[in-house]
Amino acid sequence: MSDSAIGIFDSGLGGLTAVKELVKVLPNENIVYFGDTARVPYGSRSKRTIVRYAEQDATFLLSKGVKMIIAACGTVSSVATDLKNTLPVPFTGVVEPTAQAAVNATRNGTIGVIGTSATVNSCSYQKAILAKNKHLKVFQQDCPLFVSLVENSFIAEEDPIVQLVVERYLRVLKDQRIDTLILGCTHFPIIAKAIRNYLGSEVTLIDSGRETALYAAEVLRQQNLLRKDSSPGRCIYYVSDTVDDFKRTAQIFLGQSVMKDVYHTTL
Ligand code: DGL
Repeated sequence: MSDSAIGIFDSGLGGLTAVKELVKVLPNENIVYFGDTARVPYGSRSKRTIVRYAEQDATFLLSKGVKMIIAACGTVSSVATDLKNTLPVPFTGVVEPTAQAAVNATRNGTIGVIGTSATVNSCSYQKAILAKNKHLKVFQQDCPLFVSLVENSFIAEEDPIVQLVVERYLRVLKDQRIDTLILGCTHFPIIAKAIRNYLGSEVTLIDSGRETALYAAEVLRQQNLLRKDSSPGRCIYYVSDTVDDFKRTAQIFLGQSVMKDVYHTTL
């Protein structure tokens, strides 16, 4: 079992930011990634649809024999909360590890949360933070256009369109004097520089992909599921839309191009 891959999925390519972090934390692990690129975005869909998509994504990864599943998607983690109870392998979403990191990071007790509309409407991060410390203040803002900006490669910090959208969404949180901001959607680290420029360096940005990778590594360690072989792990990618689109865009998320081990699948 320990030689099996870790399965990671997202509605699209945002979850690759978690893959990038997981490879840093666990370089010897094999990874199977599924990006539901034919049906992205999930964040503007109903709970019923998101739950159904998430079950299909997890079933696909199980068919690849994975030893753990990570929902590297803020939307799925926030809405499909029963998924973990239906799986035969360890599971984590991004909400719990990320909320814990934000609680640890805040100094003035005022935390901002940004995510898709489904994530913010679920209040998932807010509930997780307040369950850990009910004295903290949490302000939320949905930023649906951030996903479109990133999926369409509008990501440069000096791009006026990016700056304008960042300012429009984040002004309310800046006015509340947050000192910690949860990037509650795995697409958002790609525009972290523009967000940091607007909020200032004194605001700590919490990357849900990174925190979840650290948490998943700990789960695997505790359950004695880490791969024993010290050779570098291999990543295999599956997408539900075209492989060419993935190859063109994946570099933005992974920091390196991916030309092989990418396959198309229909669920
Ligand atoms: N990556 C997804 C998330 O973390 C957002 C994209 C979507 O709306 O599907 O919520």
